[in-house]
Amino acid sequence: MVPIKSSEITPEHIYLSRRKFLQAAGLFAANAVLLAACGRQPTPLATSPATSVVAAPSRDEADELSNALTPLATVLGYANYYEFTLNPTAVARLSQGFSTSPWQVAVGGLVNKPKTFDIDDLRTFEQEERIYRMRCVEAWAMVIPWFGFPLSRLLKEVEPLSTAKYVRFETLYDPDQMPGQKDRSFPWPYVEGLRMDEAMHDLTLLATGLYGSDLQPQNGAPVRLVVPWKYGFKSIKSIVKIDLVEEMPQSLWMATNPREYGFWANVNPEVPHPRWSQATERLIGENRRRETLFLNGYADEVAGLYPDLDLRDWYY
Ligand code: MTE
Repeated sequence: MVPIKSSEITPEHIYLSRRKFLQAAGLFAANAVLLAACGRQPTPLATSPATSVVAAPSRDEADELSNALTPLATVLGYANYYEFTLNPTAVARLSQGFSTSPWQVAVGGLVNKPKTFDIDDLRTFEQEERIYRMRCVEAWAMVIPWFGFPLSRLLKEVEPLSTAKYVRFETLYDPDQMPGQKDRSFPWPYVEGLRMDEAMHDLTLLATGLYGSDLQPQNGAPVRLVVPWKYGFKSIKSIVKIDLVEEMPQSLWMATNPREYGFWANVNPEVPHPRWSQATERLIGENRRRETLFLNGYADEVAGLYPDLDLRDWYY
């Protein structure tokens, strides 16, 4: 892992104690306006006070299955972001200085009211915290407290047409800032897609922050998708374009390696990756392996989206 300078992170105990204060005041899960009123508008981590390195998460700071939050330093220090490097421990260093201002997200395609949102427009949507498990296709997982809002709210604003069946997302293309995009073995920019009902599901989040601060470059600043029941590669970072379309979009991974990566990518312990089993996973920070949960543990919420799909096809 890349050593994180202590000056660059909000120590978890500060984050957690702020959260406790907000909870005690009945304000937790409040919107950005309330957070601003409490003096806790998400801010860049770099401006946070430097104290000691990360403390262990307290026992009640966990997901709904009682998994402790992954330490902030791990979330920052181990990231998949091929636009910078294929080495997850080098992304933090190589993405430092990535410019996220100004930033716009153009939302269009099969909609009544196409609109380009400045990043500050996105921050006016009521923000909330969601603690989600992130399950990478490489069989590691983390538990991350995201900050953001359901994608459905953004889509409702542009008024989808009934012909819109899928949503296509695109990452910034800027090889000068993202040196990995000079690697011609990938068809840049990074593209991902969701079916319309997946995109409208309440669990599908547009995240602008994590651990109570704005997203850092390595985690997809300034805005990314988080789809917790699908393998992590669906959770596209640094989004600049969202289009509603009629045909199933082809993702970067489908174009690069269709034998190994498909559209659905729903977490499924029964369907091995062609080169490794998906039956177990390693929660980063633990030494043991655990059993992978069907739909990453979100089956109660989302299994109903797939009544007709053959489980064996879910990977593809
Ligand atoms: N988005 C873009 N644009 N580029 C990427 O390389 N990697 C994906 C996904 N989103 C990726 C991306 C993969 S493989 C994973 S597992 C998650 O981001 C990891 O998110 P994290 O690094 O914030 O944990």
